[in-house]
Parts: sequence; structure tokens; C-alpha cells
Amino acid sequence: MKVLVIGGGGREHAVCKKLKESKLVDTLLCAPGNAGIAQVATCVPGVKATDVPAIVKLAKDEQVDFVCVTPDDPLALGCVDALEKEGIAAFGPSAYAAQMESSKIFSKNLMKKYGIPTAQSETFEDMHAALAYLDTQSAPIVIKADGLALGKGVIVAQTIGEAKEAVVDMMQGGRFGKSGARVLIEECMFGREVTVLCFCDGKTIVPMRASQDHKRVNDNDQGPNTGGMGAFAPSPLYTQEIAERTMNEILVPTLNAMNAEGFTFKGVLYVGLMLTDKGPKVVEYNARFGDPETQAVLPLLESDLMEIMLAVRNQTLGQMDIRWKDQAAACIVLASGGYPGKYESGKLITGLNEAEQTGATVYHAGTKMTEAGYVTAGGRVLGVTALGGTLREAVDSAYAAARKIHFDGAHMRSDIGSRDC
Ligand code: AMP
Ligand code: GLY
Repeated sequence: MKVLVIGGGGREHAVCKKLKESKLVDTLLCAPGNAGIAQVATCVPGVKATDVPAIVKLAKDEQVDFVCVTPDDPLALGCVDALEKEGIAAFGPSAYAAQMESSKIFSKNLMKKYGIPTAQSETFEDMHAALAYLDTQSAPIVIKADGLALGKGVIVAQTIGEAKEAVVDMMQGGRFGKSGARVLIEECMFGREVTVLCFCDGKTIVPMRASQDHKRVNDNDQGPNTGGMGAFAPSPLYTQEIAERTMNEILVPTLNAMNAEGFTFKGVLYVGLMLTDKGPKVVEYNARFGDPETQAVLPLLESDLMEIMLAVRNQTLGQMDIRWKDQAAACIVLASGGYPGKYESGKLITGLNEAEQTGATVYHAGTKMTEAGYVTAGGRVLGVTALGGTLREAVDSAYAAARKIHFDGAHMRSDIGSRDC
């Protein structure tokens, strides 16, 4: 098969690497891809992940057999719908189903209607009504922009004053454009967070190994939120008991709710959970693989990813037996100094081969190839993943490899996984 992957980050590198292992895949293309992905796929840097017509044209021109649409934006823009309309098989939800992620109000309404455990919340389209409501509430309290906001549309406010500022910022200041025109004001939940990525074909939902992300930029969860500074899997917090409760109280009810609402979700459903003292509750859904979680989860997959993607597309997932390695994986993100704020690019990266010689895998998130070698080209630059018999071994190996890599201003957290080892 000739397969095209859409996207160009660390997550897409992990997807491409796994697809390259498939006995079904002969040729792999990636648009736009990145310098690391170029090691396993032919990259098409001129086609942006958000340019749906250009993606459809590329798929047709190259006569690809299958397209995996990985990032949130093209899914929300209807990339899968556009490809399928042209007779090109694609992995990922329709734009309608992708509202599970692209509209927090859409998914909140679904959870409320079908009794899926989540934080209590109210929706507001009018700023003054939102501010008046806040006068009746106590902090901490959570303010969420309705639409996609690069992972920055959620404010966990420690005071009502801070909450009001966030509401004004979103609804009057236009901080997130149209995404912030409607907001959710939500009860603050307390507990540890676990990510459960699930393959879902609209009939069957199959959780992958549960993982944990590290969103804050500095050790001990200090500093601003980022796209994710590291991840590991499986999560020891996701015990057999929690897994069963999640399946019965959240995953199956979500699948049934989506079908009862008349839409079919095919692709990866990302279920972000808070393990509260009343049990697991949904923090958010995403309509795609997580990043960096995928860089810890996919290396543990033993089954053929292409077979799974075909089964999701063709709604035969129920017939598959998906196998996982009986190991742990840890991914350490190396970021540019200053990220998630301003940072410089173009810094020469050394030690990549030395890192991989330890047995680790280096996924590229933001790099560029130059005559001098690989240079930095993004906030998150690399994800270094190692496997081990235990989480401790995986974490230690991932750090041993990550420490071999150097570039000016490089920043990584030193405590990925350490709370749970
Ligand atoms: P989201 O973009 O929805 O993943 O939210 C980003 C982060 O905000 C989550 O990973 C949580 O840490 C936090 N968060 C979101 N909603 C809540 C909530 N209701 N209670 C506590 N924390 C939350
Ligand atoms: N790691 C969080 C996300 O992918 O949304």
C-alpha cells in the first residue's frame, strides 16, 4: 500500500515509524513532515496540514491507497470527509465527529445528556451573564474557550478575579478569536490525570495502554502549560479496577452516546481522565492521537498499526486482537530555551546518533536539516523514548539517551515519571 500521513510533529514521526514496520505498507509519504520523518517517509513540505484541498490533490496525484489524518485542525476542517468523498480511504473522524474535540460545549452537552461522569459546568454566550454567574461561585474554578485554541484555551483560575479576567479576555478581548466567543465555566476537579487513547470504529472501542503526560514546563509541575514535556505508559494509576470502571462508566457510554446522537466516530478518541475520589471523570475528549503520549504508547504496540487503521476505517475492529508489549515506555521532550514563550531556532543539534546507539528512539518534533546537520526549528524539538522492563528502567534509559543530545538552550524536565516509578 501507498500511505500518506498528514502532520509534522513528534507524534507523526511515531505514527510514521510504526506504519513503516507494517508488512502492508510499501511506500510512505508525509505532508508536511519534518527532518526526522524524512528518515522513514518521503516528505512533502509544501503541503500544509491545514490545506485540505492541497491534501486531497496530493493524495490523488500520488494515487495513495490510504491517508492517516493525524492533527486536530485538518480533522475539524473536514479533511477525512473531503478525502472519502473522492473515494480515498482515510483514518480519522469526520468534521462532525471531530466536534468531540473542536467544541468543548458539544462534548459537554453529550456527556451531560448521557450521564457520563465529568465536571459540572455552565455554558455562556454573553459575557455579562458569565461574570454574574462567577459572583455566585467560589474558586478554584475553570474557564474554557469553546473551540480549538492550541491547548491554551483552559484557565484553572485560583481566584474569582482571575476567572473574571479570563472571561473578559476570551469574550471581549478576542484572545482566541471565534474559539472564545462561547465559554464554559466548570467546577474544578481534583486528582491525578491519565490519558486513555482509544481506537474506535463506531462499533467497538479499544483502549490502548494508558499514559500520563506532563503539561507544565518545569519540574514539580511548575511554570506555564506546554503541549507536553514528556509522557510514559502504561500508567500505574490505571489499575485493573479503574480500567474496568472507565470502560463501563465512560468508554462504552461515550460510544453509545455518539451513536445515539447519530454520528459515527472512526479514529482515535483521546479520553483525558481525572481520577477523583468519586472515580474517573472526563476532563476532555480529543479526536486524535495525543502528543507526546503517542511517542510513549505506540512503541509498545506489537500489532500492525496499518491493520488496525484499516479495521477502524472498515469498521471491523471488533474482529481484531490488538497486542501490546509487556514493557514500559518513557518519552522525554527536549524543548528550545524559552518555550512555551519566545525561543530561538536554528541551533545545531549534536549527539543524535549517540542517543540512538543506547537503544532509544529519537522522534523529531521541530527540526530542520541544514548543511551543518540537524538544527532546532520549533518549541518542542525532540522526543526521546526508551523501553524497559519497568517504568523506572524505561525512565532511566530515556534520560541516559536524552543527556547525550545537546543544543544551545536545550531544556528538559528532570522528573518525567518520577512520581510514579
Ligand atoms: P484541556 O485543554 O481540556 O486538556 O485542559 C488542560 C488542562 O486543564 C487539563 O489537562 C487539566 O489539567 C486542566 N483542567 C481542565 N479542566 C479541568 C477541571 N474541570 N478541573 C481541574 N482541572 C482541569
Ligand atoms: N498531550 C496533550 C494532547 O495531545 O492534547
